[in-house]
Amino acid sequence: MERLQKVIAQAGITSRRKAEQLIVDGKVKVNGNVVRELGTKVKGNDRIEVEGIPLLKEKPVYFLFYKPRGVISSVKDDKGRKVATDFFQHIEERIFPIGRLDYDTTGLLLMTNDGEFANTLMHPSYQVPKTYVAKVKGIPDRQAMQTLRAGVRLEEGKTLPAQAKIMSIDKKKQTAIVRLVIVEGRNRQVKRMFETVGNPVVKLKREEYGFLRLEELRPGEYRELSPHEVKRLRSLAAHGD
Ligand code: URA
Repeated sequence: MERLQKVIAQAGITSRRKAEQLIVDGKVKVNGNVVRELGTKVKGNDRIEVEGIPLLKEKPVYFLFYKPRGVISSVKDDKGRKVATDFFQHIEERIFPIGRLDYDTTGLLLMTNDGEFANTLMHPSYQVPKTYVAKVKGIPDRQAMQTLRAGVRLEEGKTLPAQAKIMSIDKKKQTAIVRLVIVEGRNRQVKRMFETVGNPVVKLKREEYGFLRLEELRPGEYRELSPHEVKRLRSLAAHGD
């Protein structure tokens, strides 16, 4: 729910102050009824008309972004740190990240202005596989790998079955590179899973989100998703496979 004058202003047709004047003057209709109350809240599917002209909604946009390290998965930060939307200066739509990657995690982050789409993808029933590559301290033993796969007991409950594979080990430095595919998106999940099995994460990157890959993108770059990719993501959500 948003204030009517804000929604009008954000549609780009006028300033917030002028939008307020239009409301007071009785020139704004919500679902066919004149609304003169300034604080009126409206929903995304309310039909708004200004001087008889329907308000056009922002067109939905969808991006695949390669989040660099040292960037907050957000649209603003009170400590003045870099945020994901800083990389989208030329995009006029008011986009935001779908879910989050930690400040020090790099990799694939989806960005959109479509709240409904974002909610669908973030719903716990939407179990899209997310592939992470982690550099961890120590070399996970057979037991640790088995626990990662079968489910790690975190304070809020056991994680769902996952795929885990050691990609390489550095015996001298006592580190390993592990590929982990999880279908949930709990807060700091990958780091907490590795912490629990005794191999804390040193570096973390999300390489895949369902069928999406970073491919030729470099950190800080993005590309628009094709309508077909958006459709596939929606249907993944609908069918859970
Ligand atoms: N799991 C984590 O621990 N951190 C991330 O950024 C993403 C998944």
